[in-house]
Amino acid sequence: MVTPETLARRSDAAAAQVAALAEAYRRSGEAGDLVRLRDGRIRLGQGIDGSAPTAWGDRRQDPPPRDLFTPAPGTLPEIDARALDLDHLASAMHHHGALIVRGLFSPRTAMAFRHDIDAVLDALRVFLDAKAEGRDADLPTAQKVLFQPIPNSDQLHKGMGSAFLGLSGAVGTLLSPLVSHRLLDQFETLGLRRLLQRYFRDEPCLSFYKSVLRRAEPLPHPAEWHQDGAFMDEGIDSLNLWVALSDCGPGTNSPGMDLVPRRLDRIVPPGTDGALFDWSVSEETVARTFRDPVARPRFDAGDAVFFDHFNLHATSSAPDFTRPRYAIETWFFAKSRCALNQIPVCW
Ligand SMILES: [Fe+2]
Repeated sequence: MVTPETLARRSDAAAAQVAALAEAYRRSGEAGDLVRLRDGRIRLGQGIDGSAPTAWGDRRQDPPPRDLFTPAPGTLPEIDARALDLDHLASAMHHHGALIVRGLFSPRTAMAFRHDIDAVLDALRVFLDAKAEGRDADLPTAQKVLFQPIPNSDQLHKGMGSAFLGLSGAVGTLLSPLVSHRLLDQFETLGLRRLLQRYFRDEPCLSFYKSVLRRAEPLPHPAEWHQDGAFMDEGIDSLNLWVALSDCGPGTNSPGMDLVPRRLDRIVPPGTDGALFDWSVSEETVARTFRDPVARPRFDAGDAVFFDHFNLHATSSAPDFTRPRYAIETWFFAKSRCALNQIPVCW
């Protein structure tokens, strides 16, 4: 929740303007203010300069942090959400390339977001049908707060492939004024803004393209390994927060995620050894390059994992996985080192 204290902590003018829009919505509770807040986050994000110097210094010049974890081979460092702090996050990212956070969302919150995702995907379907018939402008307000494209931004939506995402059981978080606000409010309540400010030494922003609500059906074939940095501008500082909203991974019926359990600091050459795409990495390359077993964690609904744009990962596939998996993926960048090609958005 935005309070005068969090308002004061926001270190730049754009973030303060977003906070004022959020405060206007908090006071009025009106749908129009909610949509103005979402649109304001996008509009103000266009003013972000992805390579401005930060007054707080470059964290990459620091001496390496102490390694606070000793995960077994084929596993990732883990921490309970109540113990999550800058030292553990920075240590895990530096030495292991990822950090699992147990119980970041309560089971009740995870369930609420599952329902939200169902509602947004239904609203997307209604919107696409209405648009095909030329009556999308007349949809009711309750529908528009669940799903509404960004005004006058055809190019933006083409870049995201909005319709394609919807067909594959995913929708851009920012396309939902209501759920994007709920999610960022939840992150605020959990103290993530402060944590990311200290981690990045900068105000965090998020990616319009890469922040996605997912209801993924099990894959009929093995997924492609990839590093998200293969699609992003170079020289960036990122953290992805992937929150499982269903129990998933080994011992469940829903696919989790496979991750190479080590820190990488460059892009593994994609598109070789039978990789299906020019951005993906084949199973053969992963097995040959990294001798340790890959991590296939089990996640309970509400567990989360942080990783960055160099992390090599793939959606799990196995015959046991027969049920869809709900998850929310949010890519954060330091404002001064963000991927402009992923469309930064003000938090
Ligand atoms: Fe990815």
